[in-house]
Amino acid sequence: MKYLLALDQGTTSSRAILFGLEGRPVAMAQREFRQLYPRPGWVEHDPLEIWESQLGVTQEALRQAGVEAREVVALGLTNQRETTLVFERGTGRPLYNAIVWQDRRTASLCQELKAQGLEPLFRERTGLLLDPYFSGTKLAWLLANVPGLRERAGKGEVRFGTVDTWLLYRLTGGRVHATDPSNASRTLLFNLHTLSWDEELLGILGIPPAMLPEVRPSDGEFGATLPELFGAPIPIRGVLGDQQAALFGQAALAAGQGKCTYGTGAFLLLNTGERPVPSPKGLLSTVAWSVRGKVSYALEGSVFMAGAVVGWLQGLGLIRESAEVEALAREVADSGGVYLVPAFTGLGAPYWDPYARGAILGLTRGTSRAHLARAALEGVAFQVRDVVRAMEGEAGLSLEELRVDGGMAQNALFLEIQADLLGVPVLRSRVTETTALGAAWMAGVGAGVLGLEAVREAWTLEARFLPRLSPSRREALYQGWRRAVERALGWARE
Ligand code: G3P
Repeated sequence: MKYLLALDQGTTSSRAILFGLEGRPVAMAQREFRQLYPRPGWVEHDPLEIWESQLGVTQEALRQAGVEAREVVALGLTNQRETTLVFERGTGRPLYNAIVWQDRRTASLCQELKAQGLEPLFRERTGLLLDPYFSGTKLAWLLANVPGLRERAGKGEVRFGTVDTWLLYRLTGGRVHATDPSNASRTLLFNLHTLSWDEELLGILGIPPAMLPEVRPSDGEFGATLPELFGAPIPIRGVLGDQQAALFGQAALAAGQGKCTYGTGAFLLLNTGERPVPSPKGLLSTVAWSVRGKVSYALEGSVFMAGAVVGWLQGLGLIRESAEVEALAREVADSGGVYLVPAFTGLGAPYWDPYARGAILGLTRGTSRAHLARAALEGVAFQVRDVVRAMEGEAGLSLEELRVDGGMAQNALFLEIQADLLGVPVLRSRVTETTALGAAWMAGVGAGVLGLEAVREAWTLEARFLPRLSPSRREALYQGWRRAVERALGWARE
């Protein structure tokens, strides 16, 4: 037998899934790691915990399946994007904690850059906007705040990477310092048009080019794993950011096809084909992948809190297990007028307000735990509706259906709510681990054992959720959401 191995390094856990060549999952291992919140609005990970958990689950998945490394045709790597790391050249020793994509510490730096009138330049070159979400200002912060880092970086002793780069470096014993265009396009440093690091933007942020990884195609050659890690070297033949991987795993390979993944956050991506589509409406223009020598682009609406809202309810003690949220929310027919705006780490698309904070509005004496649970699920679905509206305005097309995946896609009530609030059918695919599947498929394409046609044909529908709300009720609920969001915006601004 031959297998494809996907490493999916996410925001809250590291996972490894072994797939048969036809896309059937054979074994899966997962491990959570610590989330560090050193100050309000700051979110960090320990880079060694990322590495050790990822290594551990990969070894475990192979062991579980009783599969030898030499039976694995290729490994595909996918990852939480934007999270920023710096490490020592040669030794791979981390020089600071990873600053996570959700971290808001560079809000004031983004403000300053905006005040200098630089946003249009960044937008035009990178397809992104000046928000702390992206790696560029996080790296600038590290260079300015970690003692000695700028000096050492100037001497070529420091490497920068997103999580893909970090794991590649460790997997290959420091032989490969690389990334792919889907990850590079989330850094605020990568020129979408020339598909290379942008010297002018690097200059503005004061980033020495020598720190940056080499950009290789998503289906490129990324070396092989050190033999001692898994018993034999495994070729690394696919690398892409997790949201782009899910788009690939949903077989949304043609322009006009899209998906929404509900992980820690929710990310809606629409394939726009061979050209980047500029977005004046608060969406991002980004690289989907570079495969078989061709680059595809996507429009993206990034929502910062989705599954993490359910995690927060759990932390409060409202539910014991995240899966319990569905039964609790089903106890009521609606949220009883309660709105929960999940702006815990600011708001992403289409608002882009790092100072927004979470809000619960419309509480009455009759509000129960069940109403809060339902309002939390609705809060995630409303954010996706905001993104869909912006996308429709932007790309001039109207959404006919939405393919979904990720943890919250297991929650049928949530998908009913999503269909109701969008007014279009929501489609769940048979394999909901589409992120990992996309990475495995990319590696299969890279290794030459899969064609794009096979990827297209492998997608299968598992369930369809249809909207039942009347258009007027849908609109009335949505207007309430917009009023609630207004109150959350700007809350943490001094
Ligand atoms: O942009 C952040 C995204 O890549 C994180 O994905 O699955 O860890 O929520 P996830």
